[in-house]
Amino acid sequence: MQEQFLQQVRRRRSFAIISHPDAGKTTLTEKLLLYGGAIRLAGSVKSRRAQKHAVSDWMEIEKQRGISVTSSVLQFDYNGYCINILDTPGHQDFSEDTYRTLMAADSAVMVIDCAKGVEEQTKKLFRVCKMRGIPIFTFVNKLDRAGKDPFELMEELESVLGIQSYPMNWPIGTDGNFKGVYNRIKSQIEVFNEGKHGQSIVESVIGDVKDEVFKDLLGENLHHQLMEEIELLDGAGDDFNLNKVLKGELTPVFFGSAMTNFGVRPFLESFLEMTTPPMARMSNRGEIDPESNNFTGFIFKIQANMNPAHRDRIAFIRICSGKFEKGMNVNHVRLNKAIKLAQPQQFLAQDRAVVEEAYPGDIIGVHDPGIFNIGDTLCQDNSKIQYEGIPVFAPEHFARVYAKDSMKRKQFIKGIEQISEEGAIQVYKRPFVGVEELIVGVVGVLQFEVLQYRLEKEYGVEIKMQTLPYRFIRWVEQDNFDYDRFSLTMDSLIVQDKEEKPVVLFENEWSIQKVEERNKSAIMRSISRKD
Ligand code: G4P
Repeated sequence: MQEQFLQQVRRRRSFAIISHPDAGKTTLTEKLLLYGGAIRLAGSVKSRRAQKHAVSDWMEIEKQRGISVTSSVLQFDYNGYCINILDTPGHQDFSEDTYRTLMAADSAVMVIDCAKGVEEQTKKLFRVCKMRGIPIFTFVNKLDRAGKDPFELMEELESVLGIQSYPMNWPIGTDGNFKGVYNRIKSQIEVFNEGKHGQSIVESVIGDVKDEVFKDLLGENLHHQLMEEIELLDGAGDDFNLNKVLKGELTPVFFGSAMTNFGVRPFLESFLEMTTPPMARMSNRGEIDPESNNFTGFIFKIQANMNPAHRDRIAFIRICSGKFEKGMNVNHVRLNKAIKLAQPQQFLAQDRAVVEEAYPGDIIGVHDPGIFNIGDTLCQDNSKIQYEGIPVFAPEHFARVYAKDSMKRKQFIKGIEQISEEGAIQVYKRPFVGVEELIVGVVGVLQFEVLQYRLEKEYGVEIKMQTLPYRFIRWVEQDNFDYDRFSLTMDSLIVQDKEEKPVVLFENEWSIQKVEERNKSAIMRSISRKD
């Protein structure tokens, strides 16, 4: 029994894929599913528009816009591993959702467009991975097209993200004349073969680098250039060090092309070997071993009305230790209350299946009758373990929001509350004014549209929205905080968050500095860590 449990834990690999929009995250996810046998034919992203959405898209709004709004979790088996891909929205306006998903992942795969290098959104998401100290693997995508010089890309990882890198393979012909890759571990060349446009698994020619065949295949010049580059890499590059990889200090880099499937399988296999099974997690009782028998987990995502036909609200639990069994009773630590996890589900985008059992590393969804908050811990025994809170990330856009019809206030408040409990928006109020006037903060402006759409569609409330000029937020920590005595500038506003903590909104960085100078004993933070 115990042996089987340990085996299940150790074969789990749970990771998130992050990227700047358009770098190829959706395509790579699809290809991983293809290799895992979870789908038979990748609806190659090109044909996605014609044939509708990719496997990981499901919300109506998403179909309309053709972007991934919410994250889904995809599970499949490959070579004895049980893989959980925590899919994340590609659009940067929904990055907060991605930040939280990263809290539930054990490692991250960072997809980079070879022509664009490290982009804005990559930097933000990378910072969250760094904060968690999880291993980060890099997939440099779109090698079938002309891109930056690979040495330049490695340099960018180091100078922009501050992480050392180790190329696991090396591209041959990056000027639009892509020929294949050199596998540094096996000292082999793998020749690129465009195959069936990436819809099915690709076969390639593999062989020793010194084999004369490759001189012919690549041509004298390219072969010679490759030999020189290999020498340079071996001589001047960082050494490979798995310990550093596991601490997130060194990123193994793979070059490939998700669309044409080139390099996807070697990446997957090498990644699975290197990345970790679920590791111990920090809690208020110290580190909790995933192999302990006490079931524990935390909620990292809540989503209402995932499927209009179900009209329900699902809380997503990341299992951290012990075995989960359908119908088990657990303690809801924050509420100090026993609850039964009756209808646990797992998801493949829109498809749901009831789970009988699940293990550390897995994500399950449970029905939420309104009792869960993001960050809540569930625990089988009475040990009252509480995992470290999930930080609230700083919104960058703010608006005053009202119900058009004052008769609909009740539904308006309910809708706003539920959507904010999902973490899609943050809600603030003016001190002493109450809920008559609500201020909503979002990470990306598109979230305002989603809010408007959802309030109308799901709660029957039309809203008016007045955008505010604020761009920055700081949570204020000060002993004996007093609203009347706190000194502000003309272009800042003090509000309260959900927990009635004081928060200041600013139009510009200059005014943050001024307010800091005027309130020397206050600490101002751009992230509110929930405790
Ligand atoms: P995302 O989830 O990171 O936002 O990116 P996604 O996979 O949707 O890919 C974005 C675009 O990049 C897609 O094109 C996709 O076909 C293309 N792409 C992905 N991987 C590769 C690759 O390895 N090589 C090449 N050449 N392209 C790739 P699209 O949005 O459909 O636009 P279009 O190409 O049809 O104009």
